[in-house]
Amino acid sequence: MTSPELTIVLPSYNEARNIPVMVERLAAALPDTPHEIIVVDDDSPDRTYDVARAIGAEQPHVRCIRRVGRRGLSGACVEGMMAAAAPVVVVMDADGQHDETILPQMLEKIAEGADVVIGSRYVDGGTSGDGLTRTRARGSELATTLSQMLISHKVSDPMSGFFMLRRDLADEMAGRLSKEGFKILFDLVSRLPASMKIAEVPFTFRKREHGESKLGVVVTMQFLGLLLSRLSGGILPIQFLMFALVGASGLLVHLGALYLLTQAGVSFVWGQVLATLTAMATNFLLNNWLTFSYKRLKGLGLVWGFITFALVCSLGGIANVSVAVWVYQFDQATMLAGLAGALMSSVFNYAVTKLVTWRDA
Ligand code: GDD
Ligand code: MN
Repeated sequence: MTSPELTIVLPSYNEARNIPVMVERLAAALPDTPHEIIVVDDDSPDRTYDVARAIGAEQPHVRCIRRVGRRGLSGACVEGMMAAAAPVVVVMDADGQHDETILPQMLEKIAEGADVVIGSRYVDGGTSGDGLTRTRARGSELATTLSQMLISHKVSDPMSGFFMLRRDLADEMAGRLSKEGFKILFDLVSRLPASMKIAEVPFTFRKREHGESKLGVVVTMQFLGLLLSRLSGGILPIQFLMFALVGASGLLVHLGALYLLTQAGVSFVWGQVLATLTAMATNFLLNNWLTFSYKRLKGLGLVWGFITFALVCSLGGIANVSVAVWVYQFDQATMLAGLAGALMSSVFNYAVTKLVTWRDA
């Protein structure tokens, strides 16, 4: 086997039927380029990893990384790039939506000195074709505009999941990239030094071969989290922002429940107790669905999870009040003291429930 000139990273989740198609198409698109294919599968229920390994047993240029206990497109892409043997790496969807026939053109751009080459749907000559539904197309436009405001490089399609770069650049950037969420290219470009050159090659986004898209509400929320996280200069992790957002929604739930209960004749004290429990329950469920979507608790785990969540948050409440009282004694700034207390409890609740309620199995 000759050493590969290009590594193709195919992140996959339930793409068993698409992997064989991809391997064939890539061979056809790259007749003169020795290449390796790395499938990074997150322990798919349809056992995509078995399919990838079986192909690898016959065609050694195909390898598979099966990640267990982890989920997330960005993290999978990073791990695939880190396993690359070739000097150039490309990431593409494993479902056939990205046009592999432009790979030689992308390689040419790298040879001409580009640091990153993007397969773009929005540069002249590219389209999102039949690949997106109308709602998705609108969402994609909005996301593109929002993200363009946050990056200094001029890029027509920062939301693309199709991009090529030198492996040494991938190595250099890997530690800084968010492993959560979907939008790894946006994250990469937004951190790229201004001196780096980005080229774009147009392509038409195709329809999926088999199966369905994994981009849903959770992924969209994670993207908004990523935008906020980048706005904060990367100081606030996406997951914490989600947790804080859920916490803020809990305040609304609390006040709403309190209002309804007292209107219905319940005493203030009992209203407050019940409203607190209601808000804790909705916070718990929302965090389970959104913030910790990849570690979702189910069945009995959900009951036990709620108990630990409620206990931790009660401790957080004590921490909240202690800090608020401590700040208040300096100059009786009620709002400032209240804010400090709330911050204290959200950081505490986040850190501790992450360790206890949604701990790694
Ligand atoms: N390992 C791993 N883990 N792979 C994943 C995960 C995950 O959690 N979620 C999705 N994938 C894989 C899919 O199997 C597919 O190969 C690829 O990542 C893209 O996922 P899709 O579910 O097909 O996403 P999409 O087609 O809706 O979105 C694509 O187009 C967007 C532009 O509109 C992606 O390329 C996005 O990155 C891109 O922004
Ligand atoms: Mn896709």
